[in-house]
Amino acid sequence: MSKIVLSIFFMTLCIYLMFFDFFIWLTNYTFAACLLNLSMVITIINGPNLNLLGLREKGIYGDQSFEDYLKLLREKFSGVQINYFQSNHEGELIDKIHEIGFSGEGIVLNAGAFTHTSVALADAIAAIKSPVVEVHISNVFKRESFRHHSFISPVCFGSISGFGLDSYRLAIQSLLKD
Ligand code: DQA
Repeated sequence: MSKIVLSIFFMTLCIYLMFFDFFIWLTNYTFAACLLNLSMVITIINGPNLNLLGLREKGIYGDQSFEDYLKLLREKFSGVQINYFQSNHEGELIDKIHEIGFSGEGIVLNAGAFTHTSVALADAIAAIKSPVVEVHISNVFKRESFRHHSFISPVCFGSISGFGLDSYRLAIQSLLKD
């Protein structure tokens, strides 16, 4: 009789330990997954005149401000830390690229009109380690011919153009897949 009681006791203990082990594994796994997710950092850099989104040439760029769109992006990619920087000044954009370009974090860059003019911006992108995805809200190839040339495309990881503000989401998605 006591043998039966003992074996039932040990069986129960084993089952309990199995569940306990599984629980510990699950906790560790969840914790590690959280750490990994939180360590994903992507910075969106917007160039000249993109502070006027929502007010500027609405027929081309839409009527949503970037700040409003950014809230939606952050909700969508809740596991990613999305930083944002905007400047109308070429040198400030270059400084920002230098500042974050060696951290390995991804960069989503809409260089605005500097796309078509700036060798300095292209050199800055070529100098850093972080992957840079070039983004345009409008389809630049459907527009004036001076917008068809990009100095930065050859040094970027990839380019996305013409999907409205959704171009930024696609760019982030492409960096997460990398
Ligand atoms: C733009 C396209 C550029 O040609 C223009 O100068 C911009 C915005 C875009 O997002 O479609 O400022 O980069």
